[in-house]
Amino acid sequence: MTDNPADDAMEAARLEKGRLLFAKQCDFLRGAVSEEDLPDYTLSEVAFAGRSNVGKSSLINSLTGRKTLARTSNTPGRTQEVNFFSLDDRLTLVDLPGYGYAAAPREKVATWTNLIGLYLQGRPNLRRVMLLIDGRHGPKKTDLTVMTMLDKAAVSYQVVLTKCDKPKPAELAKLVEEIRGLQKTHVACHPDILLSSSVDQTGIDVVRAAIADLVA
Ligand code: GTP
Ligand code: MG
Repeated sequence: MTDNPADDAMEAARLEKGRLLFAKQCDFLRGAVSEEDLPDYTLSEVAFAGRSNVGKSSLINSLTGRKTLARTSNTPGRTQEVNFFSLDDRLTLVDLPGYGYAAAPREKVATWTNLIGLYLQGRPNLRRVMLLIDGRHGPKKTDLTVMTMLDKAAVSYQVVLTKCDKPKPAELAKLVEEIRGLQKTHVACHPDILLSSSVDQTGIDVVRAAIADLVA
């Protein structure tokens, strides 16, 4: 709520648009394990990127209200393909493997990292990367590397803090300040920082609205 009823009405309309979009059918299209596998879709895409175990697949499930659309796990390295989901035949959601997972075999990590890089930098229909950062730990070196890569490729990205059910409000506020500082030098980073939890559903409606803003 703000002290301006017109702003409140506009925000309510945005949230409703997000709710309606994500209430629509969402289907798994395919998983790509190599560059040749990456489908040639023309629909706008929104990708979910972030370190292994940050909660990418869980967030896709929360957004779409489906428990098992994207496979999740306690064990880092669950998502091993670039998975494409069609939302109402209007938008493609893309669940990426995690980066920065040191415990997986080196060869596998190199293959994933390479594929993530190829995907993120070579996709004309990629409208936004939701860059997930763990709300308990904040940005790590690998996050900064990906941010810089996206800046250079001029790919718009937006920070979504995950697992916000865990940290205290003061810790979250500090993290938001830290990311605001980073935004000064990361030109392709969207100014709005989103806070989310797939456990208590905090902020899921706002993430839906941010994505719905990208759909005509
Ligand atoms: P990879 O596919 O391995 O890169 O992981 P991912 O980023 O897709 O993470 P995933 O959604 O599989 O979740 C990893 C773990 O974090 C699981 O045990 C989830 O239950 C847990 N988790 C995900 N979101 C949240 C959240 O909002 N809050 C809390 N507390 N745990 C979460
Ligand atoms: Mg995953």
